[in-house]
Amino acid sequence: MRTRRIGEVEVGEIGLGGMPMSIEGRPDETRSVATIHAALDAGVTIIDTADAYHWHADEVGHNEALIARALAAYPGDISGVLVATKGGHLRPGDGSWTLDGSPRHLRQACEASLKRLGVDAIGLYQFHRPDPRVPYADSVGTLAELLDEGKIRMAGISNADPDQIRQARQVLGGRLVSVQNQFSPAFRSSEPELRLCTELGIAFLPWSPLGGITRAGELGSRFAAFAEVARDRGVSPQRVCLAWMLAKSPVVVPIPGASRPRPVSWS
Ligand SMILES: NC(=O)c1ccc[n+]([C@@H]2O[C@H](COP(=O)([O-])OP(=O)(O)OC[C@H]3O[C@@H](n4cnc5c(N)ncnc54)[C@H](OP(=O)(O)O)[C@@H]3O)[C@@H](O)[C@H]2O)c1
Repeated sequence: MRTRRIGEVEVGEIGLGGMPMSIEGRPDETRSVATIHAALDAGVTIIDTADAYHWHADEVGHNEALIARALAAYPGDISGVLVATKGGHLRPGDGSWTLDGSPRHLRQACEASLKRLGVDAIGLYQFHRPDPRVPYADSVGTLAELLDEGKIRMAGISNADPDQIRQARQVLGGRLVSVQNQFSPAFRSSEPELRLCTELGIAFLPWSPLGGITRAGELGSRFAAFAEVARDRGVSPQRVCLAWMLAKSPVVVPIPGASRPRPVSWS
């Protein structure tokens, strides 16, 4: 797989999103581990997760712990794998996603993620979503402190608009290495953020790049152009979609989710 950069770290240009392996509808652990191993076999070196990728209230960090176990069980070299996690979202167990962007919560969340991932420092820690009750600079300021303390190696933000990207850049300077926003053929309103990231040289990680867990399979039937190119090339429309994204800007690193080994998504 060709590579791109997130900060100073070189990663495979297509990552793996861990969410489908831990929320509602998730597969059993054997299939999840096989999925993560298939991604690593295909050259994936960035895996995206979050403490909030779980289903029931009492299993915070389900996905982080799963990824840590899968990496530990992988027979190959995992020294170049970047695990990117996030804090700032919570799942009370009723299907909803709530927010806590307070410095106190982010600090506790980061400490818990460090333990679950079994590392001294988190490779990339992302503030999951702005919390309207907390000044954005305070949430992002906590990432700056965590960087200073060596608890995280790189900082990113998610679900941010251009003003928030600029604000985060002011707080973190060149230490802001990534922005993770929704972007897919069905959801293109993150174009301004993508342009800004390209200008600033910040990695842009499109989330739900195939249209999300429930709609990814319909990509070809919903977007004829992707199906047409796929037919001509003898590949899947999902693969054409990832190629389209990569062609948009050198800072793009899509993180398609998966819950079964399907190397075609990454090859
Ligand atoms: N920052 C945020 O707020 C935020 C929000 C949502 C997601 N995310 C991150 O972004 C990642 C990706 O988003 P997502 O998982 O929601 O959606 P997605 O990547 O658009 O779609 C994931 C689904 O695509 C299916 N898929 C993959 N390759 C396929 C192919 N060749 N043909 C048909 N289906 C295919 C997978 O099916 P199978 O399950 O059958 O393998 C998977 O469930 C997440 O996993 C998560 O890490 C971040």
